[in-house]
Formats: sequence, C-alpha cells, structure tokens
Amino acid sequence: MNRLELIRAIPKAELHVHIEGTFEPELMFAIAQRNQIDIPYKSVEEVKKAYNFHNLQSFLDIYYAGAAVLIHEQDFYDLAWAYFEKCAEDKVVHTEMFFDPQTHTDRGVAFATVINGLQRACDDALTKLGISSQLIMCFLRHLSEEVAFTTLEQALPYKDQIIGVGLDSSEVGHPPSKFERVFAKAREAGFLVVAHAGEEGPAEYVWEALDLLKVNRIDHGVRSEEDPKLMARLIAEKMPLTVCPLSNLKLCVVDDMAQHNIQRLLKQGVHVTVNSDDPSYFGGYMNDNFISIAEALDLSNDEIKTLAKNSFEASFISNEQKQKWNNQIDALA
Ligand code: ADE
Ligand code: ZN
Repeated sequence: MNRLELIRAIPKAELHVHIEGTFEPELMFAIAQRNQIDIPYKSVEEVKKAYNFHNLQSFLDIYYAGAAVLIHEQDFYDLAWAYFEKCAEDKVVHTEMFFDPQTHTDRGVAFATVINGLQRACDDALTKLGISSQLIMCFLRHLSEEVAFTTLEQALPYKDQIIGVGLDSSEVGHPPSKFERVFAKAREAGFLVVAHAGEEGPAEYVWEALDLLKVNRIDHGVRSEEDPKLMARLIAEKMPLTVCPLSNLKLCVVDDMAQHNIQRLLKQGVHVTVNSDDPSYFGGYMNDNFISIAEALDLSNDEIKTLAKNSFEASFISNEQKQKWNNQIDALA
C-alpha cells in the first residue's frame, strides 16, 4: 500500500475535536435561516474569507459567533451528525468529542438541549455507521472558576454520558492553576480529565496541567519541546499529546508545516496523536491532517501506523477494544 492509501485505509481514533469547530458554513447558513438568526455574512464564500486567522483569539472570536446560531436539540444533532459522516469517510472509527456547554448555556440554551442532541447523534453514529464515541465537556478558561463549578453541577445529572472534562479557549493569561479546585471536584465525581496546554501558552502551563489538574492527556502540548525536563517527563509517563497540525499552521503556532515538531516528538518517544481540532475552520478533517504532515515531513508508513496506534492507546476505550484496533492496524500491508 502506498502512503496515501495507508492513510485512507488505516483505522483511527480522534481525541481532539471541538464539535462546534466542525460547523461547516453551509450548515451554519441553513440553521441560521431556520432559526431566523441574522449572521454577518451574505454567502458561504464571505464566511470562508473571514477565516483568516493570525492567532488563537482571532479564531475564537469567529468560532463563538458561529456557535450562536445553535438553539434547538436538532441543531446540535445535525452538527454532530455532519461530523460523524466525515469520520466515516476518513476511517475514524472512534472519537472523543469536546463540547463547550458554557457557549450555549450563557445564551439561554439549556444544558439538556445540548447534551440530548449530541447524544442522539452519538447513538445513531454507533448503530448506523459503526462509529463509537464519547463526550468531553470543556470549561472555557477565559471565564471564572466559579462559573466552571456551576457548569460542573449542571453536568452531574448527565454523568453517564460525559466521560471527561477539559479546558479550552484563550490560553495565555488563563493558566491551568486557575482551575485546580474545579478539576479536583470533577475527578472526585469520577470524570477523566484533559486540558489544552502548550498550544500558545508556555511549557509551564503543561507542568501545571500535569501537577495541578492531574490530566490523563495534554491537548496540543507542542511547546513542551522548549523544556527538556518536561520532555523527559512526558516520555517517561507515556503522557499522550493530542497534536493538531492544520490548527497549528492556521493559528500561526508554526510558520510552515515542514517545521512542525510532531515527527521530532514521535522520534524522541513522546506519545503523539493526530487530530483535527476545528476542522471546518482550519482546512481539513483527520485525513487532511495526516496527509499534510506526511507530505511536509515525509512520514514513513511505519510512522503513520505508530500515530494511528497511539490514537487508540491514548483513548478512553477498553483494553480489549485497543487490542482489536491494534491487530487491525498490524494486519495492514
Ligand atoms: N476551542 C476550540 N478550539 C480551540 C483551540 N485550538 N484552543 C483553545 N480553545 C479552543
Ligand atoms: Zn482544541
């Protein structure tokens, strides 16, 4: 199998995707129209022209504005279902999706509306497409810890439908330490925990996510490379990093894909995985991310297999499931 065929055929898990970041302009227009909400664009082309980001905040401003058209349970269903159809095309067989409840509850949308729509899509993905999934609820780090506690309370009745909590939004100036107590409470309640760290923020934020939030995975983490002691720790603990290459390029975390550090991290023994982050905004879904790094960094077929195996190993599925996907990857030529 050549490299492109392998990328398309190999089973993968996606561990870092914001469901609100999969909102394609065509669907955004359709939902805005049926909800009779004005959006500041006249056409899909105009929307795409606005996707001209130079850093995380310039993206987040547009991403939150887009999410504001989501009102009804069916809107959340349609959003997630469209993403699952992309998963089916890209051979993503398992996904652990982030959602940002505060983006919706702050506009008066009930927590139940969000979770019921997403859950129904997850159920259909399993029965109709054979894709398994989990939901991870993120706290917005630009908001206070106090409101994160409120969101955690709102999530407790849905504990069985939410595998973990995460931390996203504007990183610099909002270190993990700001959320130490709410993460402790989430862990006590039985949630697994992850956090964005070392995307735009310094390696110090990755240390805090490990030591104070006690995360099971680091989201992004690419700036860990600046700190050799941190690198040694990540390698020794087999701590997964959910790396998002096209996101890093689009948000100017790297200037050029040929300079992306994912292959260097992999060669040094860091447990890196490939993910799409906000694929509608960053120019591609899972396979586009794989193809982009494979071409820019000349990845070998063995490196592609390791990245795919890492995605299952770092996921929250059972050991039996991990073994099953591992065997399937080994069986590929
Ligand atoms: N929310 C959605 N995408 C994000 C990213 N890449 N970093 C932080 N918060 C986000
Ligand atoms: Zn992210």
